[in-house]
Amino acid sequence: MLKMPIAVLVSGGGTNLQALIDAEKEGRLKSGKLSLVISSKEDAFALKRAENAGIKTLCLPLKNFAERADFEAVLQKALTENQIGLVVLAGFMCILSESFTSRWEKRIINVHPSLIPAFCGEGFFGLRVHKAALEKGVKLSGATVHYVNHIPDGGEIILQKSVPVYKNDNPESLQKRVMEKAEWIILPRAAEMVSKKLLKEAKGHEG
Ligand code: GAR
Repeated sequence: MLKMPIAVLVSGGGTNLQALIDAEKEGRLKSGKLSLVISSKEDAFALKRAENAGIKTLCLPLKNFAERADFEAVLQKALTENQIGLVVLAGFMCILSESFTSRWEKRIINVHPSLIPAFCGEGFFGLRVHKAALEKGVKLSGATVHYVNHIPDGGEIILQKSVPVYKNDNPESLQKRVMEKAEWIILPRAAEMVSKKLLKEAKGHEG
């Protein structure tokens, strides 16, 4: 295997997906291949970004599944059929079950818009994270890329990057800085690190 096939799971705008697409184009993501983008929402702009980049897309609207297990069964099938080796959660607004994450141990990574363990876990997503950080009055925030296990935002930390918080920040201005100066930098970097590691392991198994 020359490159680790990557699936990116999205639910929204897809700016982190775009950072991965740009990194692949510019040769910063060289051990992985963006092979599939799966959205949990039909109207996610991330799907358009994937189409523009010529990446295969799949839409699995959460609302079409009665149980999370049904969604995960279809997800598992799509990942297997496309020979995916690494799953990147990039603004994917759904918590995966233990039975799913345990099948993908150290093969799912997620980007979270705070310095874990601050402002993370169930209920902390998107702008809510930045609102909580401002309410607490922190002077630094940032982003974290971590492995995904059954505990929301609880898996091993891979990379973190901090950004300053300014007096006149609102959740939107802080979110913008965290994305531009932290998320879009560390997510492609972590995707490359983990792809490289998985590729090395796969080569070891080949003999
Ligand atoms: C990003 O800020 C990402 O870190 C966050 O949602 C946004 C998605 O933006 N994810 C979470 O809060 C997960 N807990 P994007 O669709 O433009 O990449």
